[in-house]
Amino acid sequence: MSNNVIIFDTTLRDGEQSPGCAMSLAQKKRMAKALASLGVDVIEAGFAAASPDDFNAVASIARDIKGPTICALARCNDHDIREAGRALQEAEKKRIHVFIATSPLHREHKLKMTKEQVVTKAVAAVTLAKSFTADVEFSCEDALRTEKDFLAQVVEAAIAAGATTVNIPDTVGYTTPTEMFDTIHFLKTTVPNIKQAIISTHCHNDLGLAVANSLAAVEAGARQVECTLNGIGERAGNCALEEVVMAIKTRANHYGLDTGIRTEQILPSSRLLSAITGSVVPRNKAIIGDNAFAHASGIHQHGMLSHPETYEIMRPKSIGRIDTSLVLGKHSGRHALVDKIKELGFDTASEDIERIFADFKALADRKKHITDADIEALVFGQSSTG
Ligand code: KIV
Ligand code: ZN
Repeated sequence: MSNNVIIFDTTLRDGEQSPGCAMSLAQKKRMAKALASLGVDVIEAGFAAASPDDFNAVASIARDIKGPTICALARCNDHDIREAGRALQEAEKKRIHVFIATSPLHREHKLKMTKEQVVTKAVAAVTLAKSFTADVEFSCEDALRTEKDFLAQVVEAAIAAGATTVNIPDTVGYTTPTEMFDTIHFLKTTVPNIKQAIISTHCHNDLGLAVANSLAAVEAGARQVECTLNGIGERAGNCALEEVVMAIKTRANHYGLDTGIRTEQILPSSRLLSAITGSVVPRNKAIIGDNAFAHASGIHQHGMLSHPETYEIMRPKSIGRIDTSLVLGKHSGRHALVDKIKELGFDTASEDIERIFADFKALADRKKHITDADIEALVFGQSSTG
C-alpha cells in the first residue's frame, strides 16, 4: 500500500457551502491558484449543475489551473453528470465525483428509494461518468449511518462499474475514531474488489472529531483525505486540511505516511481564505490561530528560550509563520523580559533589570497588551504609555 495520502481539497465546494463563505468567480480562482501552489492533489472546484455561477467557476478553474486534478461534484443523475463532464472539458486532469445517500434515514425520507434502486442508480451514474473521464469517484453519502453489509454491497458495485476512488463520508459528523477505523477495516476485508480503488474519507466536524476520524480512517488504510482550509464547511465544518496534514507530518514516526503539501504555504493560504470570506480564525485554532505559536507563561517562555522543542512540536516556519511569539504579560518572567530588551537593542546592566522587572510586573497587572513602546519606556525609567 502506498505511503502517500492524497489530499483532496473541497474548500471551493463543501467549504463554500457553509454560511458566510460564498465566493465570487474571481475569488474562487484566486483560491484555486493558492491551493495549487499549496500542493493539493485534487481541487473539488464546485457542483457544476447547482447554478450557472458554479458551472462557470468549475469550467474556468478546469481551463486555467494546472497541476492538481480538477473535480466536479454530481448527484447520480444524467443531467448533473453531463454538466460536470461539460464543465471539466478543458481540464488537464479531471475527475467526476458522483454521490448518493445510502443510510436508511436518507433512503426512506429523502430519496424514497429501496436499497436495490440506490445500487442501480449508483452503477448507472459511475458508468455514465466513465464516459467523460477514467477518473471517477463515488461517495456513499451518510456512509457511517448505513448498514455495514449494504455499504459493502454499494462500494463493491461502484468499483465494478469503474469507480477508481470510493469515498466513505461521515456526512453528519456522527462517528468516532474507533468506529471509523472499524468501518474502513471492514470494507478492506469484506469487499472483494476493494484493491481496485482508493479508499477515501470525508469527515464533518459536528462533534469536533473530523480530524481524529480522518486520521483513524487513514490508519485503517484510507489513502485519500477530503478536507478544507481552515476547516470551513457545512455546519461545524469539514476536516481541517492544515490539521490533518501537520498531524501526518509531525507524527510521521507514528503514521509512516506523507502528503505532497508544501506546508510553508499553509498560513498564507489560510490567511487568503480568511480575507476572501471574512471568516475569522479563532486565536486558539490549531496550526493557524494567532496563539498556536505564542507563549505567555514565564515557565514556558524560559523553556522556549532554552530549547524550542520544550513547548513546540513543530517549528512556526514549517507552516509559513515567521517565528514563535513570546507574549509579554503578567505571567512572563525575567528571561522573556531580558530577551525582549535585547531584541529592542538595549544593553541593560543587571542591577537595572530588577527595577525594570518590578515596573514591568506592575504595568502588566494594569495593561493587557504590553507593547515594544511600553518596554522602551520602562528601560528609560519612564512610566508606561498605557
Ligand atoms: O458530506 C458529504 O457526504 C458530502 C458528499 C457530497 C461527499 O459532502
Ligand atoms: Zn461534506
